[in-house]
Amino acid sequence: MGSLWGSVVLLCGVLLLRTEGSGAQQTKNNVPRLKLSYKEMLESNNLVTFEGLANSSAYHTFLLDEEKGRLVVGAKDHIFSFNLLNVSRDYAQIPWPASPTRRDECKWAGKDLSRECSNFIKVLQPFNQTHLYVCGTGAFHPVCSYLEVGKKPEDSVFRLESHVENGRGKSPYDPKLLTASMLIDGELYAGTSADFMGRDFAIFRTLGKHHPIRTEQHDSRWLNDPRFVGVHQIPESDNPEDDKIYLFFKENAMDGEHAGKATHARIGQLCKNDLGGHRSLVNKWTTFLKARLICSVPGSNGIDTHFDELQDVFLMSTKDPKSPIIYAVFTTSSNIFKGSAVCMYSMTDIRRVFLGPYAHRDGPNYQWVPFQGRVPYPRPGTCPSKTFGGFDTTKDLPDEVVTFARSHPAMFNPVYPINNRPIIVKTDVDYQFTQIVVDKVEAEDGQYDVMFIGTDMGTILKVVSIPRGSWHDLEEVLLEEMTVFREPTAITAMELSTKQQQLYLGSDIGVSQMPLHRCEVYGKACAECCLARDPYCAWDGTECSRYFPMAKRRTRRQDIRNGDPLTQCSDLQHHDELSGLSTLLDKTVYGVENSSTFLECSPKSQRAMTYWQYQRSIVDRKQEIKSEERFIRTDQGLLIRTLNKKDSGIYLCQAVEHGFMQTLLKVTLEVIDTERLEDLLHRDEEPAAAAAASRPAQDRSPPQETPNNKLWYRDFLSLVNHPTLNSVDEFCEQVWKRERKHRRQKAHLVQQVQIHHQQQQQQQQKAVVNPHTHMHAQGLAAKWKHLQERQKGRNRRTHELERAPRSV
Ligand SMILES: *[C@@H]1O[C@H](CO)[C@@H](O)[C@H](O)[C@H]1NC(C)=O
Ligand SMILES: *[C@@H]1O[C@H](CO)[C@@H](O)[C@H](O)[C@H]1NC(C)=O
Ligand SMILES: *[C@@H]1O[C@H](CO)[C@@H](O)[C@H](O)[C@H]1NC(C)=O
Ligand SMILES: *[C@@H]1O[C@H](CO)[C@@H](O)[C@H](O)[C@H]1NC(C)=O
Repeated sequence: MGSLWGSVVLLCGVLLLRTEGSGAQQTKNNVPRLKLSYKEMLESNNLVTFEGLANSSAYHTFLLDEEKGRLVVGAKDHIFSFNLLNVSRDYAQIPWPASPTRRDECKWAGKDLSRECSNFIKVLQPFNQTHLYVCGTGAFHPVCSYLEVGKKPEDSVFRLESHVENGRGKSPYDPKLLTASMLIDGELYAGTSADFMGRDFAIFRTLGKHHPIRTEQHDSRWLNDPRFVGVHQIPESDNPEDDKIYLFFKENAMDGEHAGKATHARIGQLCKNDLGGHRSLVNKWTTFLKARLICSVPGSNGIDTHFDELQDVFLMSTKDPKSPIIYAVFTTSSNIFKGSAVCMYSMTDIRRVFLGPYAHRDGPNYQWVPFQGRVPYPRPGTCPSKTFGGFDTTKDLPDEVVTFARSHPAMFNPVYPINNRPIIVKTDVDYQFTQIVVDKVEAEDGQYDVMFIGTDMGTILKVVSIPRGSWHDLEEVLLEEMTVFREPTAITAMELSTKQQQLYLGSDIGVSQMPLHRCEVYGKACAECCLARDPYCAWDGTECSRYFPMAKRRTRRQDIRNGDPLTQCSDLQHHDELSGLSTLLDKTVYGVENSSTFLECSPKSQRAMTYWQYQRSIVDRKQEIKSEERFIRTDQGLLIRTLNKKDSGIYLCQAVEHGFMQTLLKVTLEVIDTERLEDLLHRDEEPAAAAAASRPAQDRSPPQETPNNKLWYRDFLSLVNHPTLNSVDEFCEQVWKRERKHRRQKAHLVQQVQIHHQQQQQQQQKAVVNPHTHMHAQGLAAKWKHLQERQKGRNRRTHELERAPRSV
């Protein structure tokens, strides 16, 4: 039996040690301060979900209407209208499937009936005061219609007009294609493909009073297999004639622009008042220009690592409507190197590039060079204006301008990000960024942009970038990582409501909603609130709560820039309290000679580093415990193997974060020698422990049995006998569960040890015996479980205190 048992112990133990080896006690600047699992998000009431319909999916097209308090969502065969207060309550839905005839045609054309031959809603734009414009793929036959939503919230209208229009040049045929659109002044600007084969890509303008207009067809210099990400209108000056439309997309690099196949991220510009050329470029854009967006980091070998796969763009407005800050999310094209980055661009830099040299080459075998010749007047890309230049409309442009525009759609210089580098780079993780929204938050010491970044694993990262010394030196602080979908799935849509202070998220499997801030999770002390460095939150004198710049309160404490609790909180509490000593857990743990013990200590913040100090007695000098063979420091605590009599003493667990040290735990370890334990264990051997365990504490009879050996033997047999139970993880999980059930039984044993001990030691202390220390094997199982729980993100300093047997 001994050897069987031994192998079980080994199995669970190996798992434990492997987990420890990775990442414990490394640099922590890149880890989120708090990490919340899906379950924790739900249980703490910080997540509301719409789980999707069985006959729908692809909840990808969002339209936020703060005034009416609704979120309209386009999905497969359906349009939804959600209540911004709670997406799981009183939502409306309109089924809009493709007709059976269209579905059949789609199937005959060789498309997948369930995945492609449905009506995937791709366009959802405000049309007028009462209606939205909505388009879908219509089973490879794009269709559009009008959706009545009423003028006021109380109208509560949600109705699709029966009249259906042709959706060509508005919605793609193929639901997989990345397209983008925006309706401005009754005209729809759409970057999409306009044919069944998905080859005729263009930027279209349709609807409205003008003739439809588009980019030059089948000219790879204009667009080369583009995937569109976003469309935005940005004014160029105070003169509305200069208003421009910007498109964000990625495409294959132009022929000769890059060795081999490469993707480039682009920004494209158009004049809103472009009506096309007169003799050439008829009903084609004459003001289209594009430039490359660079987002890269220098590599060690001198070659830059480029993030070229543009995923999403967010425009953060500033006081000047002409100069929003552009936040863009990128990933890498490489199959080997997985990484994501966020870069920021300024409109000044973008305009400078569009005013710079055009990319030019003399023929297919020539290099692309900056165009050196004479640029015709008015400069291509300039919007026609009655006030300036004397050209009312693009139809009046001289032929040479139109000819030049046609052959020079690309700029030579790329647009570099602000500070020439990304503000966030993530390369060492198993996820990639997909979406971004940014909120401007007013804090005590300034204004901060808080980024919410969606990933392809159904998680949201909350990041704030804080100037370290100047605007040119930003420190990004990853505040939280939260799982918002029940299974890993890419987040494909994101909207932020400042009015509701909520974030709305879309994916293939549903829609989720979460608050922008949850200040109470940071803890119950000023120092903890301060260390969190969340611009939404401040210490208000009694708790960590939402910060409002208007409400002036003297007790309010917040320090985003430095996160220094010493300056912020020291006058509020005396020093002990500040360093956490008032809430300090002071416990006694008993270990058995030659077995191992685990002193659990995990700071709430994943950014904190823990270290341990040892003190033989309260009067002795403290010394730091270094990891060595017998002492293993993990993120969850300290593992001491093969306990020695002289390991008895005081262990202090210290957390250091941002230069601020906090004592989290003080453990007095008593090592009991084996003989004394034997005495204790065999004193009252009798069965019926289970019956005793169910009785209230006071009429419990003294400890009865030591079920450990029998238990472990049974456990091992169940592992052997049940081939379905083939995972060691599952097995260890089971052992743990059973151990919990038996914990109360063990509590008797524990009590006994305590009584025994307290006869010698007349100290009045909250005495807790770590039940894990009795048997080496169970200690390991329990520790393994700690790690599991930790991975699930449960951040508790200790759980023993509440469950401990009442002290005698
Ligand atoms: C999908 O199912 C819902 C009921 O769950 C139903 O109301 C709706 O009409 C169905 N949609 C389609 C397109 O069949
Ligand atoms: C949202 O609505 C659901 C269903 O009515 C309810 O269970 C939940 O508590 C609500 N959540 C919030 C945050 O209001
Ligand atoms: C909005 O457009 C729809 C569709 O063309 C039309 O039926 C409706 O009357 C318009 N509403 C207003 C207020 O102009
Ligand atoms: C503890 O282990 C050591 C070395 O393996 C051994 O010499 C000693 O006898 C053990 N002590 C007890 C009480 O089992």
